[in-house]
Amino acid sequence: SFIDQFLDLKQLELRLSQKLGITNCLVVAGDSDLQPEVIAEMGKLVTNTLKTLLPHGLNIIAAMGGTTMAQIASCLTPEIGKERELLFVPARGGLGERIDIQANNVCARMALCTGGKSRSLYVPEQVSESTYRPLLKEPAVQEVVTLIKKSNAVIHSIGTAKHMADRRAMPKEIVSLLDRGHAVGEAFGYFFDEAGQVVYKIPRIGIQLEDLASMKCVVAVAGGHSKAKAIVAYMKHAPKQTCLITDEGAAKAILKE
Ligand code: G3H
Repeated sequence: SFIDQFLDLKQLELRLSQKLGITNCLVVAGDSDLQPEVIAEMGKLVTNTLKTLLPHGLNIIAAMGGTTMAQIASCLTPEIGKERELLFVPARGGLGERIDIQANNVCARMALCTGGKSRSLYVPEQVSESTYRPLLKEPAVQEVVTLIKKSNAVIHSIGTAKHMADRRAMPKEIVSLLDRGHAVGEAFGYFFDEAGQVVYKIPRIGIQLEDLASMKCVVAVAGGHSKAKAIVAYMKHAPKQTCLITDEGAAKAILKE
């Protein structure tokens, strides 16, 4: 029955937060690997969570890119913007992704769906150090970097290492480094092995893992059984206050690990 299913999910949430060592896990029914509509259910929980965690007044929210984030962005609602001024900024530089799933685009969509504002960061991912450094000195870039440093909330996903390396068309040496290091998961441009060790970090500006510790609102959204290992690996680094929004498919696979 509906009640039984609800209690099962509550049970999963409790076991999951104990296993992962974070205060809050929310689990929706289904498996987004098999049922894409499950992502919209996770999206509703993201809206509820932001309504609960964000203080009234100005909020600078850093958002990451990816296919999950792009879909979650469309699920946010103007309720979040009630009594709040929302400014969405990309959490890290990097225009290496497909345009529709870039953090800049995710931020623009989040602003549109909540009645907030957004800023873009025009720093490509695949450039040499010598091109990259002077770009950072541009006032328009600096201004957004300053906003990112001031952000009080972050919304991000967690990806499988293989998928992320393929999608970002990373150089061969890096791909073999990830293979040799047995990387399984990626978040914020950091790649982790199963024990949670950082195997590689894409050297880009913006939010760094250590910046998360002082943030009150950290929302991670990742579902589907295929992401179980990636979620476990990243959660060894996640700040305790992280709220993980996931699905039954991922939750059950994680608890079997
Ligand atoms: O950083 C994590 C990845 O952006 C997740 O990407 O949602 O497309 O799996 P995805």
